[in-house]
Amino acid sequence: MMPLDPNKLPIHLAVIMDGNGRWAQQRMLKRIVGHQRGAETVKMVVEQSSLLGIKYLTLFAFSSENWSRPVLEIRGLMTLLKKYIRQETARMMRKNIRYNVIGNRSDLPDDVNETLDEAIRKTSGNTGMVLTLALSYGGRQELSRAAAKLAKDAIEGKISYEDIDVNIFGSYLDTGGLPDPDFLIRTSGEMRISNFLLWQLAYTELYFTETNWPDFTINELHKALADFQSRERRFGLTSDQINKRGDLSNA
Ligand code: FPP
Repeated sequence: MMPLDPNKLPIHLAVIMDGNGRWAQQRMLKRIVGHQRGAETVKMVVEQSSLLGIKYLTLFAFSSENWSRPVLEIRGLMTLLKKYIRQETARMMRKNIRYNVIGNRSDLPDDVNETLDEAIRKTSGNTGMVLTLALSYGGRQELSRAAAKLAKDAIEGKISYEDIDVNIFGSYLDTGGLPDPDFLIRTSGEMRISNFLLWQLAYTELYFTETNWPDFTINELHKALADFQSRERRFGLTSDQINKRGDLSNA
């Protein structure tokens, strides 16, 4: 495995876990089996990220658009999610990981919300990695919810419209309080963002691999992180400026 520089890891890693369905179909298995195998990959990536010292890990687990899938698949995914969270909370406590959720939680079934609330409450004092699950999440939906909240606060006089800037707007998003992702991994060969973290990915380094999510291994994770470490992040500045301002080159 390639050695990684512990000082040049992403602070916030985001992942679009794609290809569970194709993985299953290629093996004549039901799609839900692909999601079950995908949940095993989630365990590995959570454990590795926390071990490596990544501070924020955000996983796209269910999109706003996924509600249009066959009812049986949606039910299977919700059951899997509940089971995963219940089973893994003890491990999260041992590893000092804190749960967080983004997305439109009012669309999720009550039992899923109860399980999430319990896990968030139990892990709320943990100070290690923050594991954010994007559930019933869509970037455009999040942006329009934030705009509606801002408009309400402006009408109620809690904020003046003249004060709205990038920082204030960002604080109204579901991710308010989280830094923007430094690195995004998407599996299964699709090269698009698919309505994930539209605002937050403005300067994120993107990484795509052909591997389907259930087949994504520790080696692949390390390979992706090594690729991240080889990149120069300029944030709109020139290479010279960045080299003079070492403080930004790892930002
Ligand atoms: C995309 O594959 C994946 C999903 C829609 C669900 C992701 C869920 C998991 C990995 C398991 C449960 C999650 C957690 C956090 C325990 P796809 O079904 O779109 O694949 P396809 O494009 O090949 O059809």
